[in-house]
Amino acid sequence: MPGGIFFGTDMKIIEKEILTKENPVITRLGVIAPAIALKAEPGQFVVLMTSEEGERIPLTIVEKDEARGTISLIFQEAGLTTKLLGKFKIGDTLYSLAGPLGHATEIKNYGSVIIIGGGVGLAEILPVARALKKEGNHISTIIGARAKEMLILEGELKNTSDEFYVTTDNGSYGRKGFTTDVLTELIQKKNYDLVYAVGPIPMMKRVASITKNAKIKTLVSLNALMVDATGMCGCCRVTVSGQTKFSCVDGPEFDAHAVDWEELEKRNKVYSDKESHICKLNL
Ligand code: FES
Repeated sequence: MPGGIFFGTDMKIIEKEILTKENPVITRLGVIAPAIALKAEPGQFVVLMTSEEGERIPLTIVEKDEARGTISLIFQEAGLTTKLLGKFKIGDTLYSLAGPLGHATEIKNYGSVIIIGGGVGLAEILPVARALKKEGNHISTIIGARAKEMLILEGELKNTSDEFYVTTDNGSYGRKGFTTDVLTELIQKKNYDLVYAVGPIPMMKRVASITKNAKIKTLVSLNALMVDATGMCGCCRVTVSGQTKFSCVDGPEFDAHAVDWEELEKRNKVYSDKESHICKLNL
């Protein structure tokens, strides 16, 4: 397991910021986790539990501060556990936190890189964009959301980009349309060496289709369903190049052109009716 697994002994929440207020609610938490902060690399994630009886959920490590011994996590309220996590206040302590998990992103100088993020996937592209920029890559970032009020981390991502594009589905901010519209235009004008995409599955699937035709190496970070996140339960399996892979230990990043997107779409919808039911409960 890259970097090993550390179980925090403190796990206290020291910062909380509501990034979007509704539909969906997206929140940033700063958590004390010195051992994880020491080892975490871009692309890796933690698994947390809010209570002893609770489920385990994976969340990307968005930022880390080794000196303070803290990590920053961003989550969207989408089901019971994230809704319960949204109730945590500064000073509260998580039940458990394990990480860093998964393979880190391969950070090197690729040349010209397009980074695309949609929805809460913007939290996942930020650490990768920063690390790739630091390596000297030319970064063109395209971010999108359904509407202006659902965009997160715009300032941070803009600061780390050489070119920056914003789209909203309803045209309330930036350009009206989809991130993939901008992607199509950019790759028609210039050669790119890498595309890195994180967001809703339909978006990543569309990115994969566009860049496959253009023969551009493309990586996606998959948010497959996870249970143990240590490669034992098989819940997070995805088919890549015809082989079964586990997102938690083989990923979460994969070659976008080799992922079986239809299968992944079906698997990720398995619990969506229950999640939407829970989200309507007044917890
Ligand atoms: Fe169980 Fe990946 S979450 S094998």
